[in-house]
Amino acid sequence: MTATISNDLVKRDYRLTGPEAQRARERGLADARWFQPVVEPSVMRSLQERSDARASLDTTLWIAALIGAGLLAWWSLGSWWAVPAFALYGALYGGSADARWHEAGHGTAFRTGWANEVVYHVACFMLWRGPTLWRWSHYRHHTDTIIVGRDAEIVFQRPPSVPGTVFAFTHLRGGPSMFMRLVRHATVGLDAEACDFIPEHDRRRAVWEARVFVGLTLAVVVWAIASTSIVPLLFIGLPTIYGAWLMVFFGLTQHAGMREDVLDHRLNTRTVMMNPLFRFLYLNMNYHVEHHIFPSVPYHALPKLHTEIRDQLAPPIPNTVAAYRQIFSALRRQSTDPTYELDLDIPDVPGAEPDRIEVGEGNWARGGGPVSLGSVTSVAIGGLRRVDVGDRTYVLCRLGEDEVALLDGLCTHGQVHLADGALLDGQLECPKHNGRFDARTGAPCRKPIREALGAYEVEVRDGRITTEFNRLDGS
Ligand code: FES
Repeated sequence: MTATISNDLVKRDYRLTGPEAQRARERGLADARWFQPVVEPSVMRSLQERSDARASLDTTLWIAALIGAGLLAWWSLGSWWAVPAFALYGALYGGSADARWHEAGHGTAFRTGWANEVVYHVACFMLWRGPTLWRWSHYRHHTDTIIVGRDAEIVFQRPPSVPGTVFAFTHLRGGPSMFMRLVRHATVGLDAEACDFIPEHDRRRAVWEARVFVGLTLAVVVWAIASTSIVPLLFIGLPTIYGAWLMVFFGLTQHAGMREDVLDHRLNTRTVMMNPLFRFLYLNMNYHVEHHIFPSVPYHALPKLHTEIRDQLAPPIPNTVAAYRQIFSALRRQSTDPTYELDLDIPDVPGAEPDRIEVGEGNWARGGGPVSLGSVTSVAIGGLRRVDVGDRTYVLCRLGEDEVALLDGLCTHGQVHLADGALLDGQLECPKHNGRFDARTGAPCRKPIREALGAYEVEVRDGRITTEFNRLDGS
């Protein structure tokens, strides 16, 4: 299903606190259900596997390249060789850190949670992004991708400016304004936009993070002043600006010129085939449609996911040059006609029918005894199955040979069915923002989840799963 809302406003208000926010809600574009391709559950399970080994290798290579470029820059100080050396160092610092920030923020880079958090926080500092603020901003971006008035990460607002787009590569406007926003958050508190998507309980933390980041940056400024040299700032702080060109180069390909206010990532997001070097620097985010539809699939599995679902997507853009041709052509047209839309060729597919067990409501209510949820082998180990009883919905998790768990089906953070998520290391991961619950108890394990799921008694006897839908906590 594809829902399209015509763009009948020439100039739109992209603020999250303006009239477009209300408009998006009225049109059913906020927290909506999006197009989802069909993927065999067993295939999806294998694609969702996380790997510490792969993420460690890629992170080590990135850090080694960063240190190597830093040493070249240091040795070439005072000569013209310093220009390309710092350009390279900056690209790895202010550009490639963005992809690490992104993947670790989703919690999909490493299998081990704390490793994701370390990389995420370091990359946040490198990019002048408050960790809590940007985590919530990115949750919203995934919930309401390119929905005007809802998505805080719409970079190319209509009508776009082509010279402004070119200027974005310098980051001379974006970089200082991000730093000044940190300063404002550190001193006078969070702005209204931030408060729109950061829940109350996390706002204090966001302010303290801004203070720490501003403090660290000021310490480098003091170091530079004390040593009467700009060199410390060339290594820490300024690369966030002068190295951002690589982040802009990749980031522009994601959504620039694509549609607004559609509930189908195939229409507002681009997949671009890129060479192996670009894919390493960008951590496969060139498969951006696939990432948006299935954020629980880690970066290293995106090429396989692409192969799996490509027949259900628009044809990918064959290379970066072709992507830029399309972007600038669209932005040029939209600069004079903001209602112009790219003509995209997406196949008509019905979308995945949930793999579910229907339990007749009357049947269950009348009997008052155990209800069969079928044979235990009908759900693969590590698999999930949706269970519907009238208007109540649950998720059945098969944790082991004879171990199953039954939990409420809808994520407590949003109205997303958890049967479309993943079962990883005894935790149930939401398909929308990668929040996690303990699969045995329903307790929250990873942000943005705060509220537990109801967990129900369920047993396996003679190879069959049965339940009376009694809560484990007796409530
Ligand atoms: S909907 Fe956000 S983590 Fe589930």
